[in-house]
Amino acid sequence: MRNSKIAVLATGMTLTMALAACSGGGAGSGGNGSDGETGAAAAEGGLIGVSMPTETSERWIADGAAVEKGLTDAGYEVSLQFAGDDIPTQSQQIDQMITQGVDLLVIAAIDGTALSGQLDAAAAAGIPVISYDRLIRDSENVDFYVTFDNEEVGVQQATSLLVGLGILNEDGSEGDATGPFNVELFAGSLDDNNAHFFWKGAMDTLQPYIDEGTLVVKSGQTDIEQAATLRWSQETAQKRMEDLLTAAYSDGSKVDGVLSPFDGISRGVITALQNAGYGPGIDAGMPIISGQDAEIASVKLIADGVQYSTIFKDTRKLADQAVVTAEAYLAGEEPEANDTETYDNGVKVVPSYLLESDIVYADNIQPLLVDSGYYTTEQVESGQS
Ligand code: GAL
Repeated sequence: MRNSKIAVLATGMTLTMALAACSGGGAGSGGNGSDGETGAAAAEGGLIGVSMPTETSERWIADGAAVEKGLTDAGYEVSLQFAGDDIPTQSQQIDQMITQGVDLLVIAAIDGTALSGQLDAAAAAGIPVISYDRLIRDSENVDFYVTFDNEEVGVQQATSLLVGLGILNEDGSEGDATGPFNVELFAGSLDDNNAHFFWKGAMDTLQPYIDEGTLVVKSGQTDIEQAATLRWSQETAQKRMEDLLTAAYSDGSKVDGVLSPFDGISRGVITALQNAGYGPGIDAGMPIISGQDAEIASVKLIADGVQYSTIFKDTRKLADQAVVTAEAYLAGEEPEANDTETYDNGVKVVPSYLLESDIVYADNIQPLLVDSGYYTTEQVESGQS
């Protein structure tokens, strides 16, 4: 079994390396931007299961491709599965990976509380589990967590909203605008641990302005339960924005800003607003709308002056971190953590490696996303990768 795995691996590697040589390496090309520095570990081999939540969002496709490429470049065989945002499908896919005899699992959970059974089985089989981007909760069998500083992402989302409204300047100093501004708030999927961190960071930043009356949430919906968007769905967000407009803005008042935690949600909000006669762009009355993930469709909307901002989390770096962590486990070593306090999953504090994110505005798309090779100019112009 092991020998046949290695034979497949050797063929796969030759192919992958040939393909890698022709690839540009950014998000648009599915590469991970590593320049083969992990290739030296190729001799180790092994099969790694990578479970991603969905292919409906471009970010998870880029993550899956980058993790797969990083691991194959490092000499591992990879079983990569997407679960169509369906919890039972993800559980079954992970069960299958365990039965297949994977040596390690990398999992971005759909519902962070739904995988305890799979993680028990993995632990019983001696398979280390790396929680990828989203923390798996309620299990002692999560070995490591690679992610971004999620609370800081929320701070950045709220900060960009304040900058867009003119309350703050980009350098963080006080801006000239005093409001009052009407804002509405969106949160992510409550079964995703990250949604709570984004919300906390954002609300800690916005609350003082709400308290002093500079920001007014006209719908009154200021609890995360009211603002939540199940599965981060664009359609659900569009529907909620339509409902908010009907409920709170039928008197002719206007929405000035929307806190959005994810580009898909931002695009749903934009569609609802455009259908209601806002915009099309910010200069024609589209509210200031934040986002996350620097998805190519939203980067184009930012370049075109429709969406105001997004948060760039470089999936190449996250994938590289997952690869480095996997290599450490498979070499029998402890991976390096840079945070051993923040991420309590309900059973234990999971050692974590947190990466930094950046706010993207129209004026820094070029240095952050194009010069870094994440997207090409053509991709930004077309909105497609
Ligand atoms: C979160 C992730 C965000 C965004 C969102 C929707 O868990 O951290 O970057 O991708 O899911 O997919």
